[in-house]
This record gives sequence, structure tokens and C-alpha cells, in this order.
Amino acid sequence: MISQSKIPENQNYSSSMGEGFFREGVARWYKIRYNLDFNAETEITNVCGGKEGVANIARAFINSGDIVLCPNPGYPVYENGATKLCDGKPYIMPLKKENDFLPDLEIIETDILKKAKLMYLNYPNNPTGAIASKDFLKKVVDYSEDYNFIIVYDNPYSEFTFDDYIAPTLLEFSTNHIEINSASKLFCMTGFRCGWVAGNEYIIQGLRKIKSQIDSGCPIFIQKAVTRGLEEYKSEKKPEFVKSFVKIYEKRRDVLVNGLNKLGWKTEKPKATFYIWTEVPDDIKNSMEFTKKLINVGVIITPGIGFGKYGEGYIRFALTQSIERIEEALQRIEKVL
Ligand SMILES: Cc1ncc(COP(=O)(O)O)c(C=O)c1O
Repeated sequence: MISQSKIPENQNYSSSMGEGFFREGVARWYKIRYNLDFNAETEITNVCGGKEGVANIARAFINSGDIVLCPNPGYPVYENGATKLCDGKPYIMPLKKENDFLPDLEIIETDILKKAKLMYLNYPNNPTGAIASKDFLKKVVDYSEDYNFIIVYDNPYSEFTFDDYIAPTLLEFSTNHIEINSASKLFCMTGFRCGWVAGNEYIIQGLRKIKSQIDSGCPIFIQKAVTRGLEEYKSEKKPEFVKSFVKIYEKRRDVLVNGLNKLGWKTEKPKATFYIWTEVPDDIKNSMEFTKKLINVGVIITPGIGFGKYGEGYIRFALTQSIERIEEALQRIEKVL
């Protein structure tokens, strides 16, 4: 086999929209995974990781003062790197436990909905681990049609699902919007910076225009590797190698959640993502203070407040350590309580 470093084309710039073979590979994946047809020429574009797509889509469509509907707690880039850096106005959609961490669309004022230009939505969700039903996704699409806003469906955890749960895409209900996904979580390739955006041609063209003035495409050899990985999909189900590493996270989830609950916490097992979102287990419910306590014993977690004000009272664990280390963390947590 020839080493990829010896192939001259791998040294070239890639177009910021990505190579044709990559976009074709993504289109094929959408067909197999979701039974959706996208034109690789016009309806798919490459991004240097989902984060770049999340931020640059706002550059393409948000003008000063435009309203952007942002989930809170949420991936901080929606409010900050995307909306505020474009001089847009984030409108916070609280994600509350009593609503299964889904935004309550009915409480958003009609005036805001009429003015909103764009909504970020992310299920399976970071940081809450929540999932969205098809009924909910259909309802959001109905709202977008009534009030005419773009939905950016940020779906990087689509394959990071447990217990036979298969995550849907919002694009199943309308291809008037876009979805962002990436190889970061799907193939555990966070450092390789390769993602894609699929959906409505007008929105994709807007993103491509902006990107052509900002970056060049993800390295060609990485696009080749990701395309090869996507080829392993033969149905909507995960291929074996993806299944096998997701299983590792599922076991870690079980050990951590069972362990926390043995300590008296009330923590639920998420159906997706590698995050455990749980209430601060004391009366004060100050996520930063509790995080500091755990950091003092060498257990690193993220305070809920880091994901916005509606994250206060919660903390997030990431299942990125081995079972042995998780068991050790549980012992240290027990001492702190
Ligand atoms: C909700 C969400 N969106 C987007 C991203 C960006 O991922 P990447 O840029 O690695 O594709 C992340 C990463 O943690 C995330 O949690």
C-alpha cells in the first residue's frame, strides 16, 4: 500500500467546499443512513469540524440585531462564537428537566418567532444527553414554516447512541433546513477537523460563499479517511467498528451512573452522547463550587453554569476515561460527600 504522505495530491489545497469524492460519500451516507437524497454538487459542503460550521453559518445569515434562537444550557458556540460575534441577539430557549430538556416552543413570544432568523437545535444533546422524538422535530419544523426561520440541526452525536436507539435527523421532516455532522464523535477523530453540512441548497450556498473567504478545505487525506469510514455503513445501523467503540462508552455510562446512584444521587442513564448530566447533589446547587470540590480531589467535571444560566444546579461528567479510572473517581467522590 502506498503511504498517503507519498501521494502528491494530498499535499494540495482542498476547496473549502470539500472534494467531490467526499461530498459524494456524504450523500451516499445520507441515503443509506436516513434514506434522504442530497445532490453532492449543491446540497453538501465540507467543514473543518462541526464547530466551524456552527459559527460560519451565522456569518452567512445573521446581520446586526438579528434574533437567533439558542438552547440553554447548550453548546456555547451557538450564543457566543456564532450569534454574538455576528452582532446578532441570542434569544434563550431554556432546556428544563420537566420538559425532557427540550425547548418549550409555546412560551416563545409570537413577536420573537416572527423576527427570528435562525434556530440552533442539537439532539442528541450536549450537555444534557437528552434525545428528541420525531414528533418534537416535526413540531419544530412546523414552527419554522409558520414563522420562516432557518433551523441549524447540530447532530454530531447522531451515532453515539446506546441500547439500540437510532437517532433521527430533523431533515427527515423537511430539507428546507441544514444539518451539521462531523467525524469527531462518529469516528473518534476530534483532532482531524472534518465535518459536513447537508440540506437546503440556498443555505449551503451561503455557507460556501462565506467559507471561500475564510478557509480552505480540510486536508484531502483526512477527507479520504472519513469517506472510507462512511462507506462502512450498509444500513441505518452502525457498522461493527462504530458499534464496538460506542459499546465501550455504554459500559462506562453504566458504571458511572450505577456508582453515583449507589452514593445516593438520582442520575439517569442517557440514551445517547458521552455525557452524564446530573443535579448537583447538595442543597446549595452551586455547580461551580461543587466542581471545585471535585477538582480538589482530582476529578474533573464541567459545571452546568458553563453551558448557560439554565445549566446552573447541574454538573456534566464526560465518559472519556477508562472504567478503572471511573471507579477510582467514584471512590474519590464518596470521600468528598
Ligand atoms: C453540540 C456540539 N456541536 C458541535 C461540536 C463540535 O464538534 P467538532 O467541531 O469537533 O465537529 C461539539 C463538540 O463537542 C458539540 O458538542
